[in-house]
Amino acid sequence: TAPARYLKSLASDSRQTDRDTITRLLYSIGTKREVERYLRIFSSSSDSSQPAKFAVIKIGGAVLDQVDELALSLSFLYRVGLYPVVLHGAGPQLNSIIEAEGIVPDYIEGVRVTDAKTLQIARRVFLEENLKLVGALEKLGTRARPITSGVFTADFLDKDKYGLVGKITRIDKRPLEASIRAGALPILTSLAESESGQILNVNADIAAGELAKELEPLKIVFLNEKGGLFHGVSGEKLDVINLDEEYDDLMKEPWVKYGTKLKLPVISADSLQRELFTDSGAGTLIRRGYKLYK
Ligand code: ARG
Repeated sequence: TAPARYLKSLASDSRQTDRDTITRLLYSIGTKREVERYLRIFSSSSDSSQPAKFAVIKIGGAVLDQVDELALSLSFLYRVGLYPVVLHGAGPQLNSIIEAEGIVPDYIEGVRVTDAKTLQIARRVFLEENLKLVGALEKLGTRARPITSGVFTADFLDKDKYGLVGKITRIDKRPLEASIRAGALPILTSLAESESGQILNVNADIAAGELAKELEPLKIVFLNEKGGLFHGVSGEKLDVINLDEEYDDLMKEPWVKYGTKLKLPVISADSLQRELFTDSGAGTLIRRGYKLYK
């Protein structure tokens, strides 16, 4: 009908204006040329048959403490029609709660030893943090879906050593793709289920790495609260880490071990635009290959 057509044209006009405004905004962070190039590359990464090919963004738990800023950065992508798959942690939040209950968080080689009590609290905290992010996005008019189960299937990593911790064996990407097709950002938490339905805790960096292996996105981005990685001794922010040179030390870090795709940046939420739409990017870049000279 005519009124429906009119309404539809209004909606697409306003979306177009929206997109134009944001594209103009982007020109303030990079040159027109680079911004346009990356917009083009990222926009053509996905289509309705492969809707989840743009990016996997892993959000460190501490970043969720500034959830409004984070939601703005993600909304920005959403407004230009880019749908990242978002996976968050909630380690700091979980620690403060279990510590308040008199439990001392226990890690072996970076993996949280998870007993029944810890898992019980983790489920609650992860869900709360997930809904907090989804709520902040929706408040900005960015559609988002909480996806808190059904994606990761796992076996016990080592039941005696770590307790209720999963090693991901299978990923079902259909819920993510359905979410994006429906126009909503998929927001995942890093809990898995065993074949028999036992919920298992999974390190969020590792889950993000596994997700990236499955989806093979153009970009994998790790957000932390500090905006990069810092040298252990000098305290300086690192510009680039060369995986092959610093392999042994870095391989102890779960986010490196499982994110071995080329060029993995670690940045803060507010530099997401700069990372994506400029040549120089932001934060600390981890890549394969030796540096020749600098
Ligand atoms: N914007 C480009 C991309 O997303 C380049 C990013 C380079 N990143 C960096 N941290 N140096 O592929």
